[in-house]
Amino acid sequence: MTLSGIAITMTDRGEALASPSSPASPPVVSVQGVDLTYGRGKSAKQVLSDISLDIGEGEFVVALGASGSGKTSLLRLLAGYERASAGRIDILDAAAGAPRPEVGVVFQHANLFPWLTIRRNAEFGLLMQRVGKRERERIAAETIAQVGLGDYGHYLPYQLSGGMKQRAAIARTLAADPRIVLMDEPFGALDAITREHLQSLVKSLWQQKRRTFFFITHDVDEALYLGTRIIVLNGSPARIGTDRPNPLSGEADSVTRLRQIPGYAAEREFLLASLESP
Ligand SMILES: Nc1ncnc2c1ncn2[C@@H]1O[C@H](COP(=O)(O)OP(=O)(O)O)[C@@H](O)[C@H]1O
Ligand SMILES: [Mg+2]
Repeated sequence: MTLSGIAITMTDRGEALASPSSPASPPVVSVQGVDLTYGRGKSAKQVLSDISLDIGEGEFVVALGASGSGKTSLLRLLAGYERASAGRIDILDAAAGAPRPEVGVVFQHANLFPWLTIRRNAEFGLLMQRVGKRERERIAAETIAQVGLGDYGHYLPYQLSGGMKQRAAIARTLAADPRIVLMDEPFGALDAITREHLQSLVKSLWQQKRRTFFFITHDVDEALYLGTRIIVLNGSPARIGTDRPNPLSGEADSVTRLRQIPGYAAEREFLLASLESP
């Protein structure tokens, strides 16, 4: 079965799984031999070295790395906020270089406009794309309901808890229906219970929307729960030390359940060792 070009298979639990695009379809993100150096001359600092990564449509790629390893720098390159010093990045068949509506970004601290209600925040991307008022309001209301904030559309960001703000930020990004969603440690500042709720939310949104996700974390369990594929950044400057499918993908409906699965401990050990390798 295919749906807008994505191969869909049904598991025996009736859950639809998009397989990474077939070898024939071009990747939606293509990173080839990328270096990134900040600054010049004596103050130059190389952060990324020879990064190559192809991401197929519908994949959920999680990038793991220690703090300061260059994860945000890689995401900023994909978002078009930063230019590579060497190599090439193509996003949806065009060279990366500037932010664009097909690529949505969610950061650790909700990037909401403080003077706009949650509803108006969610409408913002659509307004930029000149979507009409009625359609904007319909999509915003639908997306806000999807993230569980149906009753809070008229609130201002300061009236929400940290977890609710992150839900609103996710709604704001997804309302514009980007084909690629980049998330930079979006739950890093939340308590454990809220984080678990939002992890499940992101997973179900990915399952419903079938967009391509690139998600950064330093949390191995979060990676094993969310990713269809996990990459690990190692060294300084960072390179991709590990890049492999996640064998536990789709095996549990929460991080707590994931921890009870046979095979979880071995995968966790493997990734922790990968994170610590030089
Ligand atoms: N704009 C910048 N100018 C100079 N150095 C930077 C800049 N942004 C990040 N860095 C440096 O690049 C390295 C990687 O940072 P970052 O990509 O934020 O890592 P991570 O997200 O994995 O914690 C760090 O040493 C950081 O100090
Ligand atoms: Mg970072």
